[in-house]
Amino acid sequence: MPLDAPSSVELKPLDFITAFHEVRPLNPAYVERLRQKVRAIGVKPYPLSVTPAGVLFGGRHRFEAFRAEGITECLMHVSEPASLDREAIELNRASEDALPMSFVDYAEMVWRKLAAGATQQAIADEFGWSRSAIADYAALRRISAEAWNVVATSQANALSRSDDDATASVAAATFTENLLRSIVPLSGIQQLELVQDLAAGRINKNKFRAQADAYRTRNAIKGWVRDSLGGIDPEIMGEAMAEVMRGAYDAEWIAFAEKGVEPAKLIRLIDAARDRFAKKHSLILIQGDFHQEVQKLGDASVDAIITDPPYRISSDRIYRLASQADWNKNFGEWDNQPEGEFLADIRRWADTFFRVMKPGASGFMFVGEPYLNIAQAAFDAAGFEIKGSFFWCRSNPGTSVTKADFMPAMDFAIQFTKPGARRTFNYPGEPEGFNWHRAPICGGHERLKTPKGETLHPTQKPEAVIRHLMDLITLPGDLVFDGFMGTGTTGKVARDTGRKFIGIEQDVTFFTAAKARVEG
Ligand SMILES: C[S@@+](CC[C@H](N)C(=O)[O-])C[C@H]1O[C@@H](n2cnc3c(N)ncnc32)[C@H](O)[C@@H]1O
Repeated sequence: MPLDAPSSVELKPLDFITAFHEVRPLNPAYVERLRQKVRAIGVKPYPLSVTPAGVLFGGRHRFEAFRAEGITECLMHVSEPASLDREAIELNRASEDALPMSFVDYAEMVWRKLAAGATQQAIADEFGWSRSAIADYAALRRISAEAWNVVATSQANALSRSDDDATASVAAATFTENLLRSIVPLSGIQQLELVQDLAAGRINKNKFRAQADAYRTRNAIKGWVRDSLGGIDPEIMGEAMAEVMRGAYDAEWIAFAEKGVEPAKLIRLIDAARDRFAKKHSLILIQGDFHQEVQKLGDASVDAIITDPPYRISSDRIYRLASQADWNKNFGEWDNQPEGEFLADIRRWADTFFRVMKPGASGFMFVGEPYLNIAQAAFDAAGFEIKGSFFWCRSNPGTSVTKADFMPAMDFAIQFTKPGARRTFNYPGEPEGFNWHRAPICGGHERLKTPKGETLHPTQKPEAVIRHLMDLITLPGDLVFDGFMGTGTTGKVARDTGRKFIGIEQDVTFFTAAKARVEG
């Protein structure tokens, strides 16, 4: 008996045992088998292993069989091992009569220890097992509780089925650790379906493995389809997913993943879904945070971006003016981020735009003058080709309130293109072909007002400027995206010129105004 500490064998009353150290659940069928054996050959061949304090750590099934048979005393090995779990496992392995522990028991024991805060290395050290063996058991935790339950029940039944030799029944057990590893990456529903089919004998192990492989392949294809189509229309995406699950694209996907062969049929599936999407939706307006909502857009799904995010030019400074009431330039919280966060956001915008734009798609992003070069560098780093800058020259800039600085009369935008395909640039001839456009700040009927007659949005862009940009980089029917649409100027121009549009705006008041303006 491989104990860490010396043990003595003593005849002791059963009620010396006051607690159990359990490494697995009891198997009632096995207790029943032991009762029959005890009846036939008595208790002597079945010593228990206990600590001096009466904690039973070896022979739990025997103990239950003794108790059920009305036995009051038996031989006990008394010792104090450093690790009760390890000792219990070694006793189990050494005993010819014990119900063998299976990978289900080992895995559950590892999970319990991990849940109690042990590291994988500490568990490996405790048992003298390799770290990777512990990692393998830990990975089985990703099998859903329902599926694991089927496995554990089937395993327990298989192990207690054999009449004379429990070891022989291990070979007969349906599930193996190796087999189960093949379903770890699958969804809970797929896992459950496979283990139920195998446990019920509807499929054999070969079919189990083949089906697990097929599901893994289809899940990978589904991930790609999800990225390509985005989540704006669950119905269209669901139909494409269902098509994938029928298995018609498996072979093509494997050739793509292993040899880089273009998955032509799958690309046709995506194109058909996009066509349906385009027919069904021409204007999509989303209220919410850009970073969150933009995740619903598919990869390489938009033809152009014309957007006007915060400039971070707001200031809390209050100017006390002799001629009029106090003045300050604070557009609101949305334009007043800490600089570090704002710079990180510019990089995130660049990466996100790159993801959602089709190869060859172009964009204009307005940006405050201090951040013009920074934005160009960030967009360059994201993979865009930087085409230069564009300037909107305000023909009616107004007069300076403070007279302390120049009155800004220019708005700046960066122009960028995602490489990889032919881009649209509809050169308009001169003077429109210069990289500036002269137009007034929007006013009159175009300027949206609150019910009280105040300016609704402090930075509403003139339609003329946005229209100029849209004419340059898009064609009728193209899908244009603006993730910071404010009052929806880009959407309104898109609609008026026969383009499709997706817009995001976080502020409810601005969003409501944009919705009425774009859809109205
Ligand atoms: C410069 S304004 C756009 C004005 C717009 N071009 C127009 O003509 O009305 C920027 C807009 O981005 C919105 N915004 C700022 N951060 C946002 C975010 N994280 N998600 C969505 N919208 C945001 C602001 O509420 C603001 O309306």
